[in-house]
Amino acid sequence: MSNKISKIAVLTSGGDAPGMNAAIRSVVRTGLYYGLEVYGVIRGFSGMVEDDIRLMESTSVANIIQRGGTILKSARCKAFFTPEGREQAYNNLKKRGIEGLVVIGGDGSFTGGLKLSTEFDLPVIGLPGTIDKDLYGTDFTIGFDTAVNTAVDAIDKIRDTADAHDRLFIVEVMGRHAGYIALYSGIATGAENILIPEAETNIDDIIAALSEKEKRKKLVNLIVVAEGDEFGGASEVAKVVKEKLPNMDTRVSILGHMQRGGSPTCVDRILASRMGFHAIECLLQGRKNVMVGIKDDKIAYTPLEIAIREKDKINDEWLRMVKILAS
Ligand code: F6P
Repeated sequence: MSNKISKIAVLTSGGDAPGMNAAIRSVVRTGLYYGLEVYGVIRGFSGMVEDDIRLMESTSVANIIQRGGTILKSARCKAFFTPEGREQAYNNLKKRGIEGLVVIGGDGSFTGGLKLSTEFDLPVIGLPGTIDKDLYGTDFTIGFDTAVNTAVDAIDKIRDTADAHDRLFIVEVMGRHAGYIALYSGIATGAENILIPEAETNIDDIIAALSEKEKRKKLVNLIVVAEGDEFGGASEVAKVVKEKLPNMDTRVSILGHMQRGGSPTCVDRILASRMGFHAIECLLQGRKNVMVGIKDDKIAYTPLEIAIREKDKINDEWLRMVKILAS
């Protein structure tokens, strides 16, 4: 393996995701194994602009694989949107001799990394760290599995109380513009309806189905709504249901940021460890501006701009299955 670079930096940026710590640990320990100096940038691109960059040792990442959040902290940085901000950020890397960067985050973070790389010819490797699973070129993103399991656990609990009171619960999950958390958690909890941005929401059909269920006294119902669904989230769906079916005992539950926290699942820890390891191998092989993904259990590299721009399509089979299983 050619080893042209000797100093690299790693950062986490955008919304945190469980497993980011496992990825940092893997990047740092693999980098050290190959004799690199590894720096941690605090608070993502903000820390890069503000020169908050620290040398990492093996012990810096001890006892973190099981922890949610990110020891490097995360932020969304306004200064980085300006050419002056990026120049300042790059100068802070350059004065330390940093020649490669690993960005753990989502599409916004990759966009920042790509800009830095294009303007200053700095090799950047992206690791998909987001609960949303909205990046092209990987079957899973770091944090998705944990977030879905958190949502499933919460929805199972909601179903208990829904059942006790014969209620309709409309539960909103995160995902930004993607419906994967809703799709997976909805299927896994046996939701009667799953509303996602990738499929058209026909509210009249949902009302008709609920009304029919009301007639046959099936009063316990669960609707899982992705926050990015075109209907506008759980509260909007509830407004229509309450107007059309005033006798139905309806409640809304928005799961929110609990989906971002907690100890990462085994799946996320392993995904993050594999990806971090390959990020270093990528830099040593002279690769640049790619996202390390995993497709069909094999490492796959996707140019950052494609990982950001392209979208995976949800298979029609999944959507048909959701309808059949919930009927
Ligand atoms: O991208 C992760 C995510 O949790 C989305 O699912 C959600 O829409 C967004 O971040 C929330 O962002 P913030 O923490 O800035 O409110």
